[in-house]
Amino acid sequence: MAEGRAFGVLGLFSDPALLLAAVPKLRARGLGRVQAYTPYPVHGLGEALGLRRSPLGGMVLVMGLLGTATAFLFQWWMNSVDYPLFTGGKDPSSWQAFVPIMFEVTVLFATFTAGLGMLVLLNKLPAFWHPFLDSEASRAATRDRFALAIEAEGEVFDAAAAEAALMVVGAGSIEVLPGLPPPRRVPLETLLGLAAGGAVACCLAGAAMYWGVKLFPVLPPMSHMLAQPRLDAQQRGRRAPAEGSVARGRLPYPFEKPEQARGLGNPLPRTEEVLRLGRKVFAHNCLICHGPLADGTPILTAAYGGRPANLQSRKYLGLSDGEIYHTIMKGENAMPRLGDGFTEDERWAVIHYIRALQRAQHAKDGDL
Ligand code: HEC
Repeated sequence: MAEGRAFGVLGLFSDPALLLAAVPKLRARGLGRVQAYTPYPVHGLGEALGLRRSPLGGMVLVMGLLGTATAFLFQWWMNSVDYPLFTGGKDPSSWQAFVPIMFEVTVLFATFTAGLGMLVLLNKLPAFWHPFLDSEASRAATRDRFALAIEAEGEVFDAAAAEAALMVVGAGSIEVLPGLPPPRRVPLETLLGLAAGGAVACCLAGAAMYWGVKLFPVLPPMSHMLAQPRLDAQQRGRRAPAEGSVARGRLPYPFEKPEQARGLGNPLPRTEEVLRLGRKVFAHNCLICHGPLADGTPILTAAYGGRPANLQSRKYLGLSDGEIYHTIMKGENAMPRLGDGFTEDERWAVIHYIRALQRAQHAKDGDL
């Protein structure tokens, strides 16, 4: 089995104190790298062997902080830039709400770095074989003996001198470890067999889950939380704020009837920026019922049942900006009251956008 020169020479000690005493003497001889294999950690051995402090702590710190930053940026971007969801008028970018996820992602990054960094980066696993594992001494050194090896380092290795040196410091059962054999390969059939077995196991597990759930109905452990008044996904702002409360940054809406709001003017200029904002609000909140052209063709299935207004029809072309504003703030029959979910600018911007859609559908020659 030995290919080329020896991997190293190994000797056994019955007492950790003897081993500790031998280490500096062997290192001073400079015959090769001194390495210890012990059944349990021996205090002071790391220092005696001159092992450097592990960089793992630093790696974990850096990756943990990266996890904190990732979780913060991710949540901040989603909640206040990409898709702000207003709950009870609270600031969507308040960092306090991000803390639990920041903590979890920190722990996630840190533990993965600790585990994988230690096993893969520092200990170089998976290693399927090491010369020590085939030695006689490996059995003793996992039980009650302490092994010390002088391992070849560089080009020149004098196995006889290493044997002699080990004998001088009192080691017994001296053994020469052969060099590395050619790498063992896993046969292709084995790999294919493993893959096929894995696939079959996954299919069986999936089928068992599917039929298991179908045949044996699973009762939820608690159902009382399902029966409470709550907002489901996409139902933003349908629930009015608590009575008498004023959401931060929003004035209470004073009008009860559309006529009262008729005279309200759109305070926003018709700039590209405003229209972009309006398009976004419309796409996220109105399009699903009123359709992409606001012509009352919902993209919901027929099961929705409602008949959203065709904002392109003559009746609704005649609405003033203030009346549309009133509808957004108060709702109208099946049209939900959505305004509490928007900022003042978003409400007026979506009105500008609806005007643009109407103008596009009723373009005159002069508009070209
Ligand atoms: C859940 C579906 C739904 C959503 C979402 C929705 N609407 Fe409506 N909308 C309706 C229905 C249904 C009507 C017809 C109400 C009625 O019967 O008078 C309507 C009517 C209207 C009217 C006419 C009201 C009137 O004066 O008669 C306007 C204006 C309007 N919606 C604007 C909007 C805007 C702006 C949005 C987005 C911010 C929006 N809607 C989102 C369903 C919806």
